[in-house]
Amino acid sequence: MEHEHLVVRRGSRSGLTMMVAIHSSALGQPIGGCRLRHYPDWRDGMADALRLSRAMTYKNALADLTYGGAKAVVVAPTPEPLNGNLRRAALLDVGDLIESLDGRYATGPDVGTGPEDMVTIAERTGHVFCRPAAYGGSGDSSPPTARGVLAAIRATLAHDGVDLAGSRITVVGLGSVGALIAEHVAAHGARLVATDLDPAKRPLAERLGATWSPPEEAVRAEADVLVPAAVGGLLTSALVPHLRCAAIAGPANNQLADDDTAELLRRRGIRWVPDYVVSAGGVIHATGVERRGESPAVALAAVDRIGTTVAALLADADAAGVIPHEAALRMAGTRLARASQASIHR
Ligand code: PHE
Repeated sequence: MEHEHLVVRRGSRSGLTMMVAIHSSALGQPIGGCRLRHYPDWRDGMADALRLSRAMTYKNALADLTYGGAKAVVVAPTPEPLNGNLRRAALLDVGDLIESLDGRYATGPDVGTGPEDMVTIAERTGHVFCRPAAYGGSGDSSPPTARGVLAAIRATLAHDGVDLAGSRITVVGLGSVGALIAEHVAAHGARLVATDLDPAKRPLAERLGATWSPPEEAVRAEADVLVPAAVGGLLTSALVPHLRCAAIAGPANNQLADDDTAELLRRRGIRWVPDYVVSAGGVIHATGVERRGESPAVALAAVDRIGTTVAALLADADAAGVIPHEAALRMAGTRLARASQASIHR
């Protein structure tokens, strides 16, 4: 088992299956968001928690944070949003679960949860990031996450000598982070293609002057950067031959659907900037403001350094003749190995 700890429990109030997967505490307290969504089977939720918590270890390591990786998953009974008493019951249950870990895990918002939900979880445990400012938290993590993605997109373009203005960007998924990315790149003169599974997002795309196309067409559009900003698994081995982008850099977690996708992308000469590097803005900002006492301006400057990290990774990858994913895993591996060595000698 690669993970340190997995706890699965049926919530006593809600009856819903929920879990916390702790991948690694080598660099410090494991942190990662609380995902609330429907899975056909709770074991699918568990597989997601295991994958997502590992990605958090790499995310925090590459963002140079002294935190480990973990994730919470609450399995919703249907695809419809969980509302009212059942939502509250599920959040209190997950709060109890987190509290039972006694600080070995701290949570934050993720797909399906937001700052208000963190207030409910905090009724049962203090190990919570991103409550609204009125409740003493650093608030919504979507704006800093989007800001980090922008820094990553700019660095990716710069590596190929392309400016954001006039570049072709495709944003897949106009949720809380994707919409902000779309707005920003449009405001800076990029030629934007935007899409979402939900047709109700179309007016937003059109207001930004984007070309709206259905998801299966949008992903195939010619682009300098393709930005996956919806839930994971977009990059399947079947899709790769149809891609017409120079690079991929977006915040969606677990973008590679199959293990061989990274290799297929390399063979096509498409640069995949790992999601766990691109999407670190939320944790960088939340831990900076809530734990390191940084002002929002200082925390945002740290978020912008994701651009520097991406530039370094792309340069390292080119120099070593490997894909950025490989270069990133090596960089994270070195940091983790150093920390584990230190703990052996403790
Ligand atoms: N969902 C984000 C992540 O997993 C945001 C987050 C912010 C999580 C702060 C934990 C703490 O990276």
